[in-house]
Amino acid sequence: MIFMADNTSLILERWKSKISGIKFDPPVDYKTTFWESVRGLANKNHAFLDVGTGVGKVIFVNDLSSLYRKVVGIDIMPEMISICKNKAKEANAKNLDFKVMDAMDMDFTDGSFDVVSSMFSPVNFNEAYRVLSPGGYLVCMYSLEKDHREVSRAFPEAFSKTDSRMYKNVPDLNRKLEAAGFSVTLNNVLHYKWLFKDEETLVNFYEKITFSQAFSKKGDRLAMLKRRIDMSIPVTRVICTTVAKKT
Ligand SMILES: C[S@@+](CC[C@H](N)C(=O)[O-])C[C@H]1O[C@@H](n2cnc3c(N)ncnc32)[C@H](O)[C@@H]1O
Repeated sequence: MIFMADNTSLILERWKSKISGIKFDPPVDYKTTFWESVRGLANKNHAFLDVGTGVGKVIFVNDLSSLYRKVVGIDIMPEMISICKNKAKEANAKNLDFKVMDAMDMDFTDGSFDVVSSMFSPVNFNEAYRVLSPGGYLVCMYSLEKDHREVSRAFPEAFSKTDSRMYKNVPDLNRKLEAAGFSVTLNNVLHYKWLFKDEETLVNFYEKITFSQAFSKKGDRLAMLKRRIDMSIPVTRVICTTVAKKT
């Protein structure tokens, strides 16, 4: 399926017209399965941990403090945790806690949480397994190897430092989870194309997510990615949401 990164109208127009027999599907929100999983697993007696929480999107968007007994977010960057703490103060939720902590070596006792989540952040699966209670769940989301394929091939230097494509494919991801003791209960892979309407939109987006200035020296590298039919730029997305159980 294909949708525009910043404007869905163009793709919906195309979807209706089915140019050259190509079917364009309407937009889908890649976060849906993840949101449904963290909310669906909720229980008022259970504790929830979000690893690499960033600005706390998983916790605040889903109002998890109203669904779980205790909710904790950790991130290695103090700036992120300070933003989360301010949001928690505004939300006035007593069961919310945020800590600066390295996900690779967590300062929690064994079995402290019933659900652990990680959205596009690095996780030590052995550590996630350790801090989960027996029967607890890990909900995680990763870019797979082919995610952003066109742009990462054209600008390898932009992706070298901040590559979030941690797993090659689903079997690779599942093997690593199983090696840590998990039993995988769900893999939901979204494989679709974004269409950027022009170079500027694409460059603005990728400069933000890669923290790279490589795109300003783009030369003709972006021009080569353009579709002749309308000069838009297609980019492959491959995103996997996985739920795994501590057996
Ligand atoms: C791509 S962001 C995702 C943020 C958030 N999960 C979201 O989806 O909005 C990755 C986050 O992981 C954090 N991070 C990276 N390495 C980490 C580590 N070793 N331990 C804890 N957090 C880490 C970063 O600081 C960043 O906030």
